Amino acid sequence: MLEKLRNRRVVFVGDSIGRNQWESLLCMLSTAVHNKSTIYEVNGSPITKHMGFLIFNFRDYNCTVEYYRSPFIVLQGRAPAGAPEVVKYTIRVDAMDWMSDRGKWKDADVLIFNTGHWWNNEKTIRGGAYFQEGDEVKMDMTVTDAYRRSIQTLSGWLHREVNTSKTHVIYRTYAPVHFRGGDWKTGGSCHLETLPDLTPPESLEEWADLLKPVNDVLGNNLRPKLSGLDMLNVTQMTAQRKDGHLSVYLSPSGPVPRYKQDCSHWCLPGVPDTWNELLYALIVKRHAKIDQNVSLFGTMTVNTG
Ligand SMILES: *[C@@H]1O[C@H](CO)[C@@H](O)[C@H](O)[C@H]1NC(C)=O
Ligand SMILES: *[C@@H]1O[C@H](CO)[C@@H](O)[C@H](O)[C@H]1NC(C)=O
Ligand SMILES: *[C@@H]1O[C@H](CO)[C@@H](O)[C@H](O)[C@H]1NC(C)=O
Ligand SMILES: *[C@@H]1O[C@H](CO)[C@@H](O)[C@H](O)[C@H]1NC(C)=O
Repeated sequence: MLEKLRNRRVVFVGDSIGRNQWESLLCMLSTAVHNKSTIYEVNGSPITKHMGFLIFNFRDYNCTVEYYRSPFIVLQGRAPAGAPEVVKYTIRVDAMDWMSDRGKWKDADVLIFNTGHWWNNEKTIRGGAYFQEGDEVKMDMTVTDAYRRSIQTLSGWLHREVNTSKTHVIYRTYAPVHFRGGDWKTGGSCHLETLPDLTPPESLEEWADLLKPVNDVLGNNLRPKLSGLDMLNVTQMTAQRKDGHLSVYLSPSGPVPRYKQDCSHWCLPGVPDTWNELLYALIVKRHAKIDQNVSLFGTMTVNTG
């Protein structure tokens, strides 16, 4: 994989589950590098939870593997002047995160998006983050509508700004959480889950609010028009892995109290490694297609010559 990524930028954009996948890829790629000192964060930043972005360079391959924290993909900002007092922040559903320019996302060679875990009332409206379009705060816009609108904003940006002949764009679908018997605030638990669900879920209906807009906007409908877009569809396989979460093992210093357990993020090595094996397959597939086009073109040249 490192050979295939020589002189390339791999960019992950999304929430902390995207960071989880990015970390997994760093670990997997680094096993192939003998001298670990040749792998470093370009600004010397440590891997911490709330870092805005982190860029690891694999020096001998001139390859960077980058993560940009952007839980909504679209722009977050202060409430505009004159907004009602309950509005503490806004999420601009019609504009990309400002980090998209700063991080030169559109120039990446492989660009992997994900979003989902922040699109709920808890992490938006209840915390004073309302949705905004243009200058207007949309006090009545639901999370579901705002999410769909934001996926459309991403799609528009991909069409307008990204050269999909150069950049391989991948959308990694929602990775289900496993708080059994409640959510994280109401005592839900994945602690002591030690086996996967061997029977796959019959339907993905439970996550329809998160899956459908992505399917409608970025999925089959647009695929012919946006040929450089691949889906990394991990939802179903991940739904089966209730045993793969951190649970109470958040910290090397020992287990945390059960009410703090984490059934969203994943242990490494673990489930995100499998997503990255599939990511590798998508990269190999695209290379094969490009090589085939080159050789077809070559044949044509011979024939006409
Ligand atoms: C390193 O990779 C970047 C693209 O990520 C490219 O612009 C640059 O030319 C490469 N450097 C060398 C020495 O090949
Ligand atoms: C490993 O890489 C570092 C950084 O380039 C270098 O200083 C060191 O000498 C290398 N070690 C070996 C054993 O090659
Ligand atoms: C898009 O990228 C391809 C492959 O790198 C390049 O040949 C082409 O000129 C680019 N198109 C534009 C409009 O920049
Ligand atoms: C993802 O895969 C599931 C089956 O595992 C399928 O139902 C769904 O339509 C797929 N979604 C996309 C966006 O390809």
